Amino acid sequence: MDFSIKGCDWTKGETKGFATGKADCIVLGVFEAQTLSGAALDVDEATGGLVSRVVKAGDMDGKSGKTLFLHEVAGIGASRVLLVGLGKQDAFNQKAYRDAVRAAWRALLATRIAQVTFTLAQSLADDERGADWGVREAILALRGETYRFTAMKSKPEPVQYGLKRVVFTVDSDDVKPARDAIKRAVALANGMDLTRDLGNLPGSVCTPTYLANTAKTIAKDWKLKVDVLGLKQIEALKMGSFLSVTRGSVEPPQFIVLHYQGAAAKAAPVVLVGKGITFDTGGISLKPGEGMDEMKYDMCGAGSVLGTIRAVAEMGLKINVVGIIPTCENMPAGNATKPGDVVTSMKGLTIEVLNTDAEGRLILCDALTYAERFKPAAVIDIATLTGACIIALGHHNSGLFSKDDTLAGELLDASREANDPAWRLPLDDEYQEQLKSNFADVANIGGRPAGSVTAACFLSRFTDAYPWAHLDIAGTAWKSGAAKGATGRPVPLLAQFLIDRAGQ
Ligand code: BES
Ligand code: MN
Ligand code: ZN
Repeated sequence: MDFSIKGCDWTKGETKGFATGKADCIVLGVFEAQTLSGAALDVDEATGGLVSRVVKAGDMDGKSGKTLFLHEVAGIGASRVLLVGLGKQDAFNQKAYRDAVRAAWRALLATRIAQVTFTLAQSLADDERGADWGVREAILALRGETYRFTAMKSKPEPVQYGLKRVVFTVDSDDVKPARDAIKRAVALANGMDLTRDLGNLPGSVCTPTYLANTAKTIAKDWKLKVDVLGLKQIEALKMGSFLSVTRGSVEPPQFIVLHYQGAAAKAAPVVLVGKGITFDTGGISLKPGEGMDEMKYDMCGAGSVLGTIRAVAEMGLKINVVGIIPTCENMPAGNATKPGDVVTSMKGLTIEVLNTDAEGRLILCDALTYAERFKPAAVIDIATLTGACIIALGHHNSGLFSKDDTLAGELLDASREANDPAWRLPLDDEYQEQLKSNFADVANIGGRPAGSVTAACFLSRFTDAYPWAHLDIAGTAWKSGAAKGATGRPVPLLAQFLIDRAGQ
């Protein structure tokens, strides 16, 4: 898809041949009051009042999400016009913009239209978010609409739509930021696509080795440094907790460390730690069969780390980022870890494994200890950690945990800016008591009450050396049901956090 920007100032009459420019279709917004402004007025004039006649006739009432194609339009450079309802002008906000944009793409993608002039980002003129935000949202929405996962289909359905080229019109002052927004949005969408693909692949394909090879490919493509540690090296590091999870699996575990260096070598990095369970059966504490296929998504934390680093590399952010991915399967077997077993973590803390299905925290805790060597500015772990997080927050917000108010605030700001919401949950010391063990330093589960909080409390025991936050993405990393598939979240949140940290 080719995206570009054209500056057009309606107020100054500087339309630079907008209406006569060659395109298959011009996309115009219409508010409910049916007043035409900017681009729509210009086109109306050039077409001898066609747009206002259609609106007056009542065929386009401007209601949010409504679309209407006008065909064989004369007087302008495009033969078609797509009118898009924007809703009430005084209630026009970011959500209304997104709804309108999605409706426009859906209508366009159902046709053979290839070249589009898209004017909706200009309806944001008075909004606190400028046209650059509008361009970014429009590109992300389009990439969301066109994403398809066909890797496992023998005969993938051919793509039906014709869309190839989109020209966004923005006010002349907004041209530069809007051009930058294209680059950023495309990089972000590419990162999200990678995260979605990795999540959607079956566990038999997306194994720990596959994740390691993906990290190596990213490193090669973007000239990054990558280290992949195998079983022998993981043993040498004494990651007894991580090793206890992989025991029952015949797939070799991998410990991936991917370095993006965009700032001076001595600048402290942000470390992203992603849970990479490529399939979670629960182990000896076996999960029930229903819906177990979705546990192929238990590596979505790892996938989001790879997607974010890919995005950040394409954006060329001036920041250092280290991605750490402990990855293995959680399988039952004759030699698998049993409930009641006590394991020794890399940090030296002993852990009583009361439930082998609480395995994410067991692989993450050793990765969090490993992270200390980078003297991080901040560490964020991302994990499909607890079913309890879905009960608490559903599928809209990721769970955010941190004792560091500044870091938590930065992440919440980024989540809002990126439209990738997160909600902060508590991490008070009182909850730590639920992790008491009669036989080891700590138990790996804290009972049913506040299951997501006690999981975060467990991780917190390994994070004294740096500012740390934990994102539980169990409810947000993928969708179930008819629309089953990975979402690419929380790559937008993480990328925005890094953009803000880089001061860019
Ligand atoms: N990967 C699961 C969490 C999960 C479950 C995410 C369902 C999304 C949907 C995790 O490893 C797990 O099994 N957690 C247990 C913890 C419990 C044993 C304390 C859970 O949530 O049931
Ligand atoms: Mn589990
Ligand atoms: Zn799991």
